[in-house]
Amino acid sequence: MSTAVSMLEYEVMKSDANEPRNKRAGSGLGAFPEMDDKQFLQWVDLLEQRTGMRLPDNRRSFLVTNLGIRMRELGYNSFQEYYELLHSGLGGHIEWDKLVHYLTVHETRFLRHEDSIALIREKYLPRHPWEVKEDPVTIHIWSVGCSTGEEPYSIAMAVDDHLKKLGCEFYLGIIASDISRSAIAAGRAGIYNKNQVKNIEPEWLKKYFEMLPDGRYQVIPELRQRVCFNQLNVINMEKTPIGAMDIIVCQNLLIYFDRARREQIVSNFVEHLTPGGLLVLGVGELVNWSHPKLERLNYANTLAFRHK
Ligand SMILES: C[S@@+](CC[C@H](N)C(=O)[O-])C[C@H]1O[C@@H](n2cnc3c(N)ncnc32)[C@H](O)[C@@H]1O
Repeated sequence: MSTAVSMLEYEVMKSDANEPRNKRAGSGLGAFPEMDDKQFLQWVDLLEQRTGMRLPDNRRSFLVTNLGIRMRELGYNSFQEYYELLHSGLGGHIEWDKLVHYLTVHETRFLRHEDSIALIREKYLPRHPWEVKEDPVTIHIWSVGCSTGEEPYSIAMAVDDHLKKLGCEFYLGIIASDISRSAIAAGRAGIYNKNQVKNIEPEWLKKYFEMLPDGRYQVIPELRQRVCFNQLNVINMEKTPIGAMDIIVCQNLLIYFDRARREQIVSNFVEHLTPGGLLVLGVGELVNWSHPKLERLNYANTLAFRHK
């Protein structure tokens, strides 16, 4: 696992003991309906088919709780009826888009993996003015499984800060993608509470955020404009219009897939990388893997590759 938090997420995925996503809905309103083995398998298959994630047996209560919360919001009391709703044409698609947010883990934070950010700075960005080879410097980055935006904004701040200090002209464009429309909407708004920005050093907080009247912080428009949020399912990447990227970052997402699917997804990323570009994964998320077009980068506490 890449970090202690990733390990936690992994354990959360495996454990049966995590809290309901919405404690209010999970208490005092009566029990959720029973889910028998056949129904459980039906839902596990659906989730795997549509997200790539296969829930293990010990995650039944996670499924029941989170499905139950959404069903309650809609007034459904039968898993089967709700399952049928999800298969009913356009309405089913719209509802699936909402449900997926309830069934995926969005744990994230600003500057979550600082070593990966340091690697981008050290192994990709020019470190001295005389290393700048183009004017303006152009960098296209893709943050895959970006959740509510903390990862792409962290990268945006780090790159912006570095290149401005270097005094060079640059164009920075970041694509931030996730399967969850709710997560994408939150990222696009770029509004975070005090606790969520606590990892950000005061200099960056002042430079990259403005305080709203309610005491929350919003990423400044100049930085928000650099990050383009899109809904994208990594298991359907053949449909993506995303072009050639200089850096692709995918952390704390692959852990939810089996090995074969991880390899498939990461091999697809390679096709979107420019020569010399970087692929940055979460440490431990794809061990003992190599690709003929990539060379492994040696940088402490990271898992990263350069396109040859
Ligand atoms: C644990 S978060 C990781 C966030 C961020 N990358 C980080 O490291 O802090 C995993 C994200 O992956 C997204 N996700 C899950 N399955 C996905 C899929 N098939 N395609 C795209 N995103 C997916 C979830 O919605 C969630 O926001």
